[in-house]
Amino acid sequence: MRYSAAFNLELFQQLNRSEYGRRLGVFDSLDSTNDFLKKKEDLTSGEVVLAETQTAGKGRSGRAWSDEKGHNLLFSLGLVTDTATRFVPLAPLLSAAAIRDALSYYCPEIKIKWPNDLLISGRKTAGILTEAKTSGTHLTLIIGIGINVNQTRFPGLEDINPNSLALATGKPVQREEVLARVLGELQAVFSKARWNPDPVMARYRQHCVTVAQRIRFEWNGETHEGVAEDIAPDGRLRIRTEAGILEFNGSEINHIRTAE
Ligand code: BTN
Repeated sequence: MRYSAAFNLELFQQLNRSEYGRRLGVFDSLDSTNDFLKKKEDLTSGEVVLAETQTAGKGRSGRAWSDEKGHNLLFSLGLVTDTATRFVPLAPLLSAAAIRDALSYYCPEIKIKWPNDLLISGRKTAGILTEAKTSGTHLTLIIGIGINVNQTRFPGLEDINPNSLALATGKPVQREEVLARVLGELQAVFSKARWNPDPVMARYRQHCVTVAQRIRFEWNGETHEGVAEDIAPDGRLRIRTEAGILEFNGSEINHIRTAE
């Protein structure tokens, strides 16, 4: 099997057991799948848009997300919900738990770095950018997911040294199957979490490498240090610092790394 082949929509439809992705748009190139779904007027819940490449792929904290065309999964899932739904603030973490479960089929040792990076052998393999759009009492969550599937070289990203499923397993991986597994887990997680997110969050904690670590992080333009003690029920990271116990959400702190 080749490392790069056009996404096979028919094959995906045969493999997909989930409601998510029943409506799937596949594009050769988009600026960003998140931006595309955000602008879409007739978006239905569970709709997915996928691009073979992005010209302005977005990562968290204003960073860019680059890709090698046709090798990876770059897609966004739109979920229309009501603003009171309990899982909304937890959506990035629940998504990470679901993707971890799906990708553990290929690499059982895959871990989560708070809030929603997926690491194989400590190297970033997938990332999630969750955005929201409100209209009246309805909220649309746009869950943008980038998974390094078959890319094996990452020029310009030597400092990050990303990983991919193909690098980790030593062979090409079928993108259609990965997407079907990921959407299946996302649907399972979100339908459970709608009533009670606690069991999924317990599993998240179990696979999160950040908890119980001494870490360094950037907050308000300064470097701080502390021990990541736990994940609060609303998904914030609880850190014991010299100034006491502080809690942050994923957009408040940056550049989290292990302190020696
Ligand atoms: C991160 O780890 O910084 C988040 C990366 C999210 C990348 C995905 S690729 C598909 C979707 N469209 C985007 O522009 N970004 C997300």
